[in-house]
Amino acid sequence: MRDFDAAPLDAEARRILQLNDRGGYTVPTAGLYPYQWNWDSAFAALGFASFDISRAWAEIETLLTGQWDNGMVPHILFHRTDPGYFPGPDVWGTETALGRGTCSVPSSGISQPPVLASLAWRIYRADPAAGRGRLVPLYPRLLAYHRWIIAARAETGAVVITHPWEAGRDNAPDWDEAMAGIEPLGVEPYTRRDTSHVDARMRPTKEDYDRFIWLVQFARDRRWDEAAIAAESPFRVADPTLTFTALRSARDLKAMAHELGEDEAEIDGWITHLEAGAETLWNPETGAYDAKNLRTGNFAGSVSNASFLSWWGGLADDRPRATLARILGQSRHALPSYDPEGPKFDSLRYWRGPVWAVMNFMAANGMAEQGLTEEAARIRADTARLIVENGFAEYFDPTDGTPAGGATFTWTAAVWLAWASPSAGTGAGGR
Ligand code: DGY
Repeated sequence: MRDFDAAPLDAEARRILQLNDRGGYTVPTAGLYPYQWNWDSAFAALGFASFDISRAWAEIETLLTGQWDNGMVPHILFHRTDPGYFPGPDVWGTETALGRGTCSVPSSGISQPPVLASLAWRIYRADPAAGRGRLVPLYPRLLAYHRWIIAARAETGAVVITHPWEAGRDNAPDWDEAMAGIEPLGVEPYTRRDTSHVDARMRPTKEDYDRFIWLVQFARDRRWDEAAIAAESPFRVADPTLTFTALRSARDLKAMAHELGEDEAEIDGWITHLEAGAETLWNPETGAYDAKNLRTGNFAGSVSNASFLSWWGGLADDRPRATLARILGQSRHALPSYDPEGPKFDSLRYWRGPVWAVMNFMAANGMAEQGLTEEAARIRADTARLIVENGFAEYFDPTDGTPAGGATFTWTAAVWLAWASPSAGTGAGGR
């Protein structure tokens, strides 16, 4: 990519962020995802930071207006109702949720991978003078978010999800066993909207959706009470995405605490706890970090792109390197979201094969930090090539690069600006 003129694509990426800007928050893409999503928004902030640092902080501030009193940051904030998306606020029914307290922003009742503190820290480091006044009031809120994760979701040290949407990897094979254990009886009649925006072959199946909605109703019936959900839900899966992003964020929160002169002891305890939890996700049979169904104790047996976030989590662990080498060797476009030699590989179907730029960003940056320089360079080059040849798609087929899912996608544009573009390398995304 050395001789490549990045300027037109940089301009297009900035245009996409502005196109998807709804005033203080950014939608992932118009139509398919018309609200503010938690981890999409954190990446939007990272993208904005490459050309408008104040707008980057505004994105984070708006996301935290949806934080519940118990510290949870929801995965969707429904700032303005849009009938083109299902399930909307009426289905979630979080008005009377137990942890919500005084928060008045309509939202879902679950969370998402906690990348916010890490990306806020990256944005701060790009311009500490501009960031300090913004970070100081946000810091206690970020801390409360992670205190909630540890209290509500980290009983084994690894961080669990209560719904596949919390992992962000909605239909990953990681959840197949737990999803098969759900008999979706009593699901209220519904009409999917996603397949009116995107080819159904690229989206989760109806079997998945019935269970997605069943799990929403299950938690809604318990007023989103974390204790009741933990005790009664058939779905409780320890997830590498949440575990490694939480671990990374805890380390970044510790750096923030140091910078702001705050106490670090509580965060040190979280790091120790999460590191022990991460170890419980090591699956010697696959040679990779894996999801674990806490209801059965079984590993999923899934080698996914989340398996390779351990370096992003700050683990100096060489054990996954052999499996990483195998996956890179098999992939024309890295990193596939599921092992191309695995029995469930589906090159177009969302998280069962396709490549996602945000996962590549985290995986490769973690690898670079831990000395896996060649692997990181390969993943960055593949990400750049996919975007140059196929545009700012939501995700890409790892076999031929076919763009899939939504187009003009916020986080793909953001990752381009912050990292994959040849012009990146300084500022918030700089490596
Ligand atoms: C969707 O609607 O597909 C989202 O991934 C849920 O968060």
